[in-house]
Amino acid sequence: MNKFYHIVTYGCQMNVHESEKIAGILSDMGYVSCEEPENADIVVFNTCCIRENAENHAFGNIGMLKKLKSVKKDMIIAVGGCLPQQINKAENLHEKFPYVDIIFGTHNLHELRRLIELKQGRKKTVIEIEDSEGEICEDDRPLRTSYPNAWVNIMYGCNNFCSYCIVPYVRGRERSRDSKKIIEEVKGLIKEGYKEITLLGQNVNSYRGELTFPRLLEKIAQLDGKFRVRFMTSHPKDFSPELIDVMARYPKICNCLHLPVQSGSDSILKAMNRKYTAEEYLKKVEALKKSIPDCAITTDLIVGFPGETDEDFKATEELVKKVGYASAFTFVYSKRDGTVAAKMENQVPEEVSKRRIIELVELVNSQTRVLSATYIGKTIEILCEDYDPKRGLYLGRDEYGRMGYFESDEDVVGQFVMMKVEQANGVSLSGRLVV
Ligand code: SAH
Ligand code: SF4
Ligand code: F3S
Repeated sequence: MNKFYHIVTYGCQMNVHESEKIAGILSDMGYVSCEEPENADIVVFNTCCIRENAENHAFGNIGMLKKLKSVKKDMIIAVGGCLPQQINKAENLHEKFPYVDIIFGTHNLHELRRLIELKQGRKKTVIEIEDSEGEICEDDRPLRTSYPNAWVNIMYGCNNFCSYCIVPYVRGRERSRDSKKIIEEVKGLIKEGYKEITLLGQNVNSYRGELTFPRLLEKIAQLDGKFRVRFMTSHPKDFSPELIDVMARYPKICNCLHLPVQSGSDSILKAMNRKYTAEEYLKKVEALKKSIPDCAITTDLIVGFPGETDEDFKATEELVKKVGYASAFTFVYSKRDGTVAAKMENQVPEEVSKRRIIELVELVNSQTRVLSATYIGKTIEILCEDYDPKRGLYLGRDEYGRMGYFESDEDVVGQFVMMKVEQANGVSLSGRLVV
């Protein structure tokens, strides 16, 4: 009889990919994936703690399983990822949700099999969090779920300590994977038929293998086959002319770049410990646009960082207008215990942050709409990712990351298709296939 697993993932692409690694471990143990927690023998929550609402979301869903667990006593509930990796959080979780069976962190995900076996032999909750990162584990075999895209870790951790951010505390110091192993993995994926490779790291530009990041990217872009390469995330302080050069020379590298700016105010950037000024950021954007005029630039923005005045916020809006982002993620600052910013005076009142975020979202959306409208009538190449049964349409992205919807008689998932854009609806496009 089959045993079933159900994984709930929160947070960034790093977590999405780590859930594929968790799925790989569980499938090696004989478990099969299922859609509903009700049918599962093991439920794993892969959590995020980047903002308070990410944590609350996880807490809410773990809480909802209490009832199910009371009738399905043999079901194992495991909570891993960034949330329990925070200081004292594992104990806290255990107190709050005593029915959770296994609590693990970001540094011991590869040991999940042992933790499950340990739990099966005893009643007590298994709580194991490693404080330090240790060696990079190279023998995971992820069960990939995002075909035709494949996520590939090139590095782990972060050394930047932006003053608002919890990531360096829960992911440890930067460790880069061996360049040869990365290239081997990518080669294998292309051979298996993956059409898009996304290289992952908290700050890919500080990758330090035998190769630098631009050289690694170049080697990957030189591999044979029709595929696209993306990478994220780039820290502006390390975004270099060498990288622009490689992006410009290889058509396989998508003309899009996620370059989180966070704020347009120099005093806020300084307090955030971002290590660049608005002007330096804009210069890099200019250099990029000069080499790759059609490059779609996206970003992350935070409003309501401690001490942010109306002037500071205006500076952010000005910068957004100057860059003309293809799209942007906008966040209200969330205080994270243990970070430097959490101790700062002048925390911004919630009403002020709310007002600012509404204004900023409107600005960003208006830019996105303007850009979308320029697409009408154009024919673009889309890598079809999926079929949406609700809308009866296939969907996929162009190289700039924009989503397009279209009808097709044939199943074209995993194929590059040409779509003539007929309509632009905010962030997404729709149209018809052309040959
Ligand atoms: N390493 C990546 C991703 C970091 S997390 C990077 O540096 O870009 C993704 C985004 O979450 C960040 O860019 C930032 O905009 C946002 N973020 C991080 N900590 C936050 C906090 N405490 N409050 C609000 N937003 C935050
Ligand atoms: Fe967080 Fe900054 Fe590291 Fe990104 S670069 S993960 S925002 S500390
Ligand atoms: Fe969240 Fe951890 Fe990613 S805190 S954003 S899941 S690195």
